Amino acid sequence: MSNRMWGGRFASGPAEIMEEINASIGFDKRLAPQDIRGSLAHVAMLGAAGILPAEDVAAIEAGLKSVRDEIEAGTFVFRRELEDIHMSVESRLTEIVGPGAGRLHTARSRNDQVATDMKLWVRDTLDALDGQAAELQRALAEKALAHAGTVMPGFTHLQSAQPVTFGHHCLAYVEMLARDRGRFRDARARLNECPLGAAALAGTSFPIDRHATAAALGFDRPTANSLDSVADRDFALEALSAASICAVHLSRFAEELVVWTSAQFNFVRLSDGYTTGSSIMPQKRNPDAAELVRAKAGRIVGALMGLLMVMKGLPLAYSKDMQEDKEGTFDALQALSLCLAAMTGMVKDLEPVTEVLARAAGSGFSTATDLADWLVRELGMPFRQAHHVTGRLVGVAAGKGVGLEALTLAEMQEAEPRITEAVYAVLGVENSVASRISYGGTAPDNVRTQAHGWIARLDGESR
Ligand code: ARG
Repeated sequence: MSNRMWGGRFASGPAEIMEEINASIGFDKRLAPQDIRGSLAHVAMLGAAGILPAEDVAAIEAGLKSVRDEIEAGTFVFRRELEDIHMSVESRLTEIVGPGAGRLHTARSRNDQVATDMKLWVRDTLDALDGQAAELQRALAEKALAHAGTVMPGFTHLQSAQPVTFGHHCLAYVEMLARDRGRFRDARARLNECPLGAAALAGTSFPIDRHATAAALGFDRPTANSLDSVADRDFALEALSAASICAVHLSRFAEELVVWTSAQFNFVRLSDGYTTGSSIMPQKRNPDAAELVRAKAGRIVGALMGLLMVMKGLPLAYSKDMQEDKEGTFDALQALSLCLAAMTGMVKDLEPVTEVLARAAGSGFSTATDLADWLVRELGMPFRQAHHVTGRLVGVAAGKGVGLEALTLAEMQEAEPRITEAVYAVLGVENSVASRISYGGTAPDNVRTQAHGWIARLDGESR
């Protein structure tokens, strides 16, 4: 049988394999709510503009609502020969209201329809991701407040660098998430123009009111160029790139959790809720959730790369290639949603092992910079020279197998005779972090102020 929607000039139906490669219903059925919303806005506008008589509009509206009910109830039967969600809805609508249903497609095409549906879906999803990222920020800010003074080693090159606080580390991720949220919002603001009414590519000869449909669907305005309207998938690319950057942030944090929960580090504990056992090694507690968050960045970035490759070189306007935007976008944004939820759960769940962190914070000569700064501040030594003197003292301590604070004053004075007892105060980890009071520094007071600031900002947003 030839296709009922477009089969006028076709004598026979598609080959089996043609149907298989062509059909998108298997994955675009998830656009049903958006598709029906778009159709309701379109048909109302057709009525208001006098393009369709009121009784057709009323019948189509009632029909669309019963299709929506059937889909929500799970009784709707999706059939591959109907190709995609747009034709599936229209076909069922025709069964319900009769041939008058065919008037719904006046002054539109599946090309503007699918662009509208996808934009609505991406927009809703960006809003949801923004909310989830805010929840993760809150969990991190609360953890930061609880551990504003918990010392831990700060790393560069994964080598002990300078002591920091656990709260400061948590707030670093709050900042990253703030930028991620900014990108979600930017992408949302830029996508918020309505393609509906661009029709196939050239616009339509019917006196439609695109401003009305744009407003009804919550868009700021209609898109200005009909070719661009149906050819544009920037909104999906932008959402995927914002999602990719966010996923990379979560992946870095996940990697830290994997390292920190290892027996060798033992920096943090995750409860049974966020670890799994091994089927052979009874002692194991594996951080599988963190590992999966780390891994999912791969498929999310992959979806971005995939869609960029689909779009490159496509001539204007619509090509069926663009149907390939869906699976990757759905999958990636859903994966990010799961990652955000899992990270929020883990952050709430995790407990830093404060004794281990404190011990590690003091190892690796982590207060060497404090010593050099002391020489500069107290003795007026140029920093380069202070760096050199400190380096010699680190060498002496390393040779004895002790920390800097265990060197005697005599040993210190051998490297620099003007050093006094007072130097020992800066060699302690607590003093080190407390001294980092520069704006954005790790001092516990700074961390407390910033954590409070974030919690207040998040409270303000949710009001
Ligand atoms: N299923 C199609 C897609 O997702 C809808 C648009 C089809 N348009 C067309 N001219 N074949 O892109």
